[in-house]
Amino acid sequence: MLLTYRQISFKIFHIMKRFVKKHLPRWLQSYFRRVYYHYPIVRRIYYLPANIRDALRWRGKKLAPPRSKIFVGDGDFELAGQEFLGYFTDLCGLGPKENILEIGSGIGRMAIPLTNFLSLEGSYVGMDIVAEGIEWCRKKITPLFPNFTFFQSDIYNYQYNSRGRCRAGEYRFPFADASFDFVFLTSVFTHMLPADVDHYLAEISRVLRPGGRCLVTYFLLDDAVRAALQTGRHHMKYPYEDCLVIDPQMPEASISHPEKRIRELYLKYGLAISEPVRYGNWCGREEFLSSQDIVIAMKTMSLKKEKTGPKTSAN
Ligand SMILES: C[S@@+](CC[C@H](N)C(=O)[O-])C[C@H]1O[C@@H](n2cnc3c(N)ncnc32)[C@H](O)[C@@H]1O
Repeated sequence: MLLTYRQISFKIFHIMKRFVKKHLPRWLQSYFRRVYYHYPIVRRIYYLPANIRDALRWRGKKLAPPRSKIFVGDGDFELAGQEFLGYFTDLCGLGPKENILEIGSGIGRMAIPLTNFLSLEGSYVGMDIVAEGIEWCRKKITPLFPNFTFFQSDIYNYQYNSRGRCRAGEYRFPFADASFDFVFLTSVFTHMLPADVDHYLAEISRVLRPGGRCLVTYFLLDDAVRAALQTGRHHMKYPYEDCLVIDPQMPEASISHPEKRIRELYLKYGLAISEPVRYGNWCGREEFLSSQDIVIAMKTMSLKKEKTGPKTSAN
């Protein structure tokens, strides 16, 4: 089977990445990570040849950001969006007329495939803390799809917005209670600290209508996963509060949360988990759905009713 140029370059990139992760001292990796995220000019230079090649190839006909602007991970940008659109429809029953909120919308990786799915009766709001990503989405997506809107919240995150003025743990989403049918976060709580995740789950529950659903990805820890991560080969091994992180100097670089705490939070905020949790292969699992663990839940009628009502799978 012949591989395309794109597949070959991905393979080479991942081999190099594995090599760097294995052989470069941790402090140097941490330094490079900070440079990569805090100085976008570095990405612009690094991806200049790819930008030129894509520009010549697509001539503005494709709705996708230039590679130098992509700060949301190094996987295949388009495939990741398509993959999650499948989970939204197949696992969450998302329909084209729903009101959707994406927290941590990055640079439109999930929004772009949704533009071909949502009808004009539906709506999408994307929120992120990185101004460049929001600007690109506003400029390229909203004019073509006016029911897609984007806004930036100037929230601090050491990796993504180290000059942010607000704290995630105190931020109230600017939406009325029960105003969304579906809320999702892909690869966002894997970059947020425990107290902030707690507060965001409360906010997600508040803005979801009763019966509304949410899909959130995590790196979830239990005893077996912790043991697997201690083999020494995995980089998610440095303790941070009750979590494990890959970079103690920048815990937001990648953070795994105990599943038990996350389940307690869902229960506390009236979010009934639709079992099973779809575990990912991030920690070396052989059976998996995606790379991260996927938790889908439904907002119960009210916290009060939940106590007396039938048991949910999260109880
Ligand atoms: C790995 S990227 C994923 C982006 C997007 N969800 C996707 O899948 O393409 C992590 C995202 O989380 C955002 N983020 C980090 N902390 C946040 C916070 N407190 N509130 C909202 N977004 C946040 C970052 O700005 C970044 O866009």
